[in-house]
Amino acid sequence: MKNTWRFGTKELNYIREVLDSGFASSTSGSMNNRFEQALAEKVGARYAVTFNSGTSTLHAALDAVGVGYGDEVITTPLTVISNLDVILAQNAVPVFADINPDTFNIDPVEVAAKITDRTKAIMPVSLYGLSCDLGPLMEIGKKHHIAIINDAAEAYGSRYNDLPIASIADITSYSTENSKHITTGDGGIVVTNEAALAEKMRKFGSLGYAALKASDGRIRSNKDIFQNPNYKRHDAFGYNYRMPEVAAAMGLAQTERLEDFLKLRKDIATLYIDAVSECEYLTPQTVPAGCNNTYWTVAMRYERDDVSWQEFREKFIDFGGDGIYAAWALLYHETIFASGAWKRRCPPLYNQINYPIKGHCPNAERVQPKIMQFVNNYGTIDEAEPFVEALKKTIAYFS
Ligand SMILES: Cc1ncc(COP(=O)(O)O)c(C=O)c1O
Repeated sequence: MKNTWRFGTKELNYIREVLDSGFASSTSGSMNNRFEQALAEKVGARYAVTFNSGTSTLHAALDAVGVGYGDEVITTPLTVISNLDVILAQNAVPVFADINPDTFNIDPVEVAAKITDRTKAIMPVSLYGLSCDLGPLMEIGKKHHIAIINDAAEAYGSRYNDLPIASIADITSYSTENSKHITTGDGGIVVTNEAALAEKMRKFGSLGYAALKASDGRIRSNKDIFQNPNYKRHDAFGYNYRMPEVAAAMGLAQTERLEDFLKLRKDIATLYIDAVSECEYLTPQTVPAGCNNTYWTVAMRYERDDVSWQEFREKFIDFGGDGIYAAWALLYHETIFASGAWKRRCPPLYNQINYPIKGHCPNAERVQPKIMQFVNNYGTIDEAEPFVEALKKTIAYFS
């Protein structure tokens, strides 16, 4: 088996349990339920619902808080395409608020300025492992009766004001895609403290089965009720976004090991951050007081005009570095947006809306091309050390 630091006996044992039980879907097996309970407890929320991705979790979250045709959803432009796609999937209108150039997260002042009487949800992202500025965002939400959906796909274990982030927002969404702190290959899990929201999300992700409950995705517990020609199964609209039991078995094992994964990423991140402590042109993502960065990747702003981003990366690789990731293009710079293709999702609504490509979110436009993300997803410190050394050599080379 490859990557034995990441996958081991625990994962194999839980997967074997699923196979030994004769195999089941999440609507009848117990593994999804076990993963949900373990994760909810670990991140500090009452309810968790598994999904097949951290995109479908966001889709369900928007639907659960009532986002529909023509509603506005405020989000950051510096994020993955998922955040845009789920807004368009609901025939809602994306509204982009600028970021804080130091934390790279959405700026609550910019969010407040974008509120209208059509704003239905705010979907900040806790980027690269650092909580978004939840205090003021929750205040804005309360004042205007708008739900806050924290996309914490990359932010397992993050805290804000010394509290677990999952205990703060109305809904907190995680991805279990392969690059994340814990993984099921692909998948997602969403948490909330409100039973009504959990039930709505579960129904949205599982064909609207009436028997689904906030804390249980199984529907066939009483066969005598279910197997009746007059039984009506569905009382809500829903997609089938469910997580397979084998994936949930992985999720359960990984959740039980979450602290180890968090520690490893943090220790490796610390090496990278120490390596740039004297470097004037590489500035790590700022971590405000009361927050902790759980470092999905180690993100920094690269600010040097005489050596290009690409040149720096190439030299880093020459010295044995393991690549540097660029930030995604801003959502409104992506081809689907810039080409206008997104408008085909709902022409009567979207045809009148135009977004400026330049000067729309000036901080995000300035910072995005400068972001360098260093990889910290390694099995041991020893494995990471040559890459940190490569960074030191690159800095020395260009001094
Ligand atoms: C910030 C953020 N949001 C959402 C997602 C979507 O998750 P998934 O790939 O599981 O759909 C990701 C994962 O790439 C992400 O990084």
